[in-house]
Order: sequence, then C-alpha cells, then structure tokens
Amino acid sequence: MIRLSVNVDHVATLREARLALYPDPKEAAQMAIIAGADGITVHLRGDRRHIKENDLELLKKFIKKPLNLEMAANQQMVSLAKKYKPNLVTLVPEKPEEITTEGGLDVFKNFDLLSDTITKLREEKIKISLFINPDSDSVKKSSELKTDFVELNTDSYAEAEEEKKRFSELENLRKMAKLARDFGLGVNAGHGLNYQNITGITTIEQIEEVSIGHAIVARAVLVGFEKAVKEMLELLKKV
Ligand code: PXP
Repeated sequence: MIRLSVNVDHVATLREARLALYPDPKEAAQMAIIAGADGITVHLRGDRRHIKENDLELLKKFIKKPLNLEMAANQQMVSLAKKYKPNLVTLVPEKPEEITTEGGLDVFKNFDLLSDTITKLREEKIKISLFINPDSDSVKKSSELKTDFVELNTDSYAEAEEEKKRFSELENLRKMAKLARDFGLGVNAGHGLNYQNITGITTIEQIEEVSIGHAIVARAVLVGFEKAVKEMLELLKKV
C-alpha cells in the first residue's frame, strides 16, 4: 500500500487568515497520525505565510512518525533543517508570488546548488527527495545528484480535464516512476492529488508515498480531520 504523508500547511493557512493561535497544525498532525497516516509534511516557505519555525519545532517534538520538510535550497533553510532534523527534506522551487509550488525543480540550471545542498543535508544523515516534473531528463539528472528519492509532480495529471489527457499523463507518470526506480531512486508523488484522482496513482507500483495537503484539509473542514484522513487511506488501500 502507498504510504500517506499528510501535508498540514493549510491548517496554518486558516490560522494565519485571522492571525490567531488556532487551528494548530500540530493538533491536526496528531489527529492524522491517530487516523493512520504514515507521516506528516510541511512546507516552511521563505515568507512564512503558513507554517512557522515554531510549528516545525512542535511537530518534531510531538509527532513520532516521519516528518517531511519541503524547503527551498538555500543556506537559511539548510541551517533550519540541520537544527530540526526532519526525516526527509524535499527540495522544491519557490517563488514568493506563487499561490502554491509551480512545477518541479530545474535540476539542470540548479545542479551545483542542489548538489551542494544535498551534501550538507547528508552530513546530518537527513534523507533527500527532489520535487521534479515527470520527464526523463529530470529523472536522469536527479540520479546524477544522488538523491534518495524523487517526488514526481502530479500536477499535470491532476489538472487534466479530458479523459484522454488524464490517461496519457498517468501513463507518463508510470513510465517515469519506473525509470526512477531503475536508476535506484525511491519514488514519491504529489501535488493536486484528491479523493477522485488518487485511484489512478495507486495503480503505479513504484510509488512509495504520496504527499497530500489541500484536498485533505478541505475535506477535514467538513467532516473532521480523522475522517478525512481515513477516507483517503481507504482509497489508497484499494489496489
Ligand atoms: N508536494 C509538494 C512538493 C508540494 O509543494 C505540495 C504543496 O505544498 C504538495 C505535494 C501537496 O500538494 P496539495 O496541497 O495540492 O496536496
């Protein structure tokens, strides 16, 4: 069964909408774990628009399941990763003006920066994943960077409106997941996944873990966090 890492960023988005003290992403994370989630993901953005350093500290302290920290490859974030030692760091591209992560890393343009960042994180024995678009050049270049995992960007699949396009995007993800595995990389996937489109993803044998945020938090607003997570876990079981 594919593991589920629940991204709790948007619990913090709701808190920040009123500059309040609640809802608390740590409590949501605890409920997700009680419901059976395999891990928790947060994205500590440069502008700190949702998750703050204090959230990271509390999650590290109270959550006993693997913590995946999404972050930009820069010196400040490397220092924070070294301080809080998440189980996995997923390096992502970050633009201040974007609403959510737009596309995967340019592993060609940023090769030296990524290589240097990976070396520094390795010194702390932190595992590394690179969020990349599902194309063969990015997968091959990632393997040269000696990352532990790639996270395949599922956005084009999730956004596809027509059946034919959705199918071809899914088949592309399948090919890229296989290619990544052939290069010895672990394969994660995420972005834009929800209760409808997750079923296709479960048919890809090489995907080990999905990271899902917005859809679960949105569902949780209506039915509660535990139920929202359990519903997603049920769908992941149906392989
Ligand atoms: N993976 C990465 C690299 C992301 O940046 C995000 C969004 O923070 C996600 C997965 C989760 O995306 P969504 O909120 O659409 O489930």
